[in-house]
Amino acid sequence: MRHLLSTKDLTRDAAIALLDTAEDMADVADREVKKLPTLRGKTVVNLFFEDSTRTRVSFEVAAKRLSADVITFSAKGSSVSKGESLKDTAQTLAAMGADAVVIRHSASGAPRVLADSGWIDAGIVNAGDGTHEHPTQALLDAFTIRKRLHGAASRGRDLDGVTVTIVGDILHSRVARSNLWLLTALGAHVNFVAPATLLPVSTEGWPVELSYDLDEAVDAGPDVIMMLRIQGERMNAAFFPNAREYSRQWGLDDERVARLPAASIVMHPGPMNRGLEISAGAADSPRSAVLEQVANGVSTRMAVLYHLLSGAVEL
Ligand code: NCD
Repeated sequence: MRHLLSTKDLTRDAAIALLDTAEDMADVADREVKKLPTLRGKTVVNLFFEDSTRTRVSFEVAAKRLSADVITFSAKGSSVSKGESLKDTAQTLAAMGADAVVIRHSASGAPRVLADSGWIDAGIVNAGDGTHEHPTQALLDAFTIRKRLHGAASRGRDLDGVTVTIVGDILHSRVARSNLWLLTALGAHVNFVAPATLLPVSTEGWPVELSYDLDEAVDAGPDVIMMLRIQGERMNAAFFPNAREYSRQWGLDDERVARLPAASIVMHPGPMNRGLEISAGAADSPRSAVLEQVANGVSTRMAVLYHLLSGAVEL
């Protein structure tokens, strides 16, 4: 694996191999000394053109646990805010000897441009590009689901027959897209539930079932229900009447969460709008895996950096 740009590129076996490596990395996190020497001497650059807390910090911790040198650029406070182009930024990073570039950008396709450009000879990791993809989020979600379902017996397993219902602002969600490809490759069935205004214009050929009624979706008893953030910053029009109406129809509230089977897993990639797409009760319920998702993000990103940079088994 040279780059990680999309989960569409991952076969079932490659995905399982990455998740299994993440299991090994999670074991390291349980040790008193959480650090491996694997990437000593490598330089990982975090290039964040869009705001982020958990993804940026998670990649930083992951690179450090593997003993890489890590540099974080955010657009604010760098020459990007002076109008420097992606090309000039990439060439600067190349001149500094970056081995991997983790990039988040508001333009869908920016990581691909960087990977195909020839401006820089580093492994490129897509940390979220516009409304397109967020592959490491999907990997950490798949890891979290597998761990909840199979615990210590997770290694080597796929998600055959698992039902995952993804709810809310699908239209703007790179998390939904990356999860759809990855979870499907692993054998899961994915449903999207949203108001018609928040579904993509076309989902033709996508391996997904669409529906518009959250109550029906809850009563179907999915193994996993993944709530998405309403992405106000990407909305230039009114996609629903108002917040109250949205949470009444599309929010996972205390009453709906109580109707889910006890073993259902409630997920959210964060940051959560508590009271809008998810109630505090649902976010903090025993079904919620939100904090596991954050913790698993570190192990998963360690696995990705490891496969990209250590010259380990070809995926
Ligand atoms: C997601 C993102 O940035 O795409 N968050 C994240 O990576 N933790 C989802 C979101 O912003 O709603």
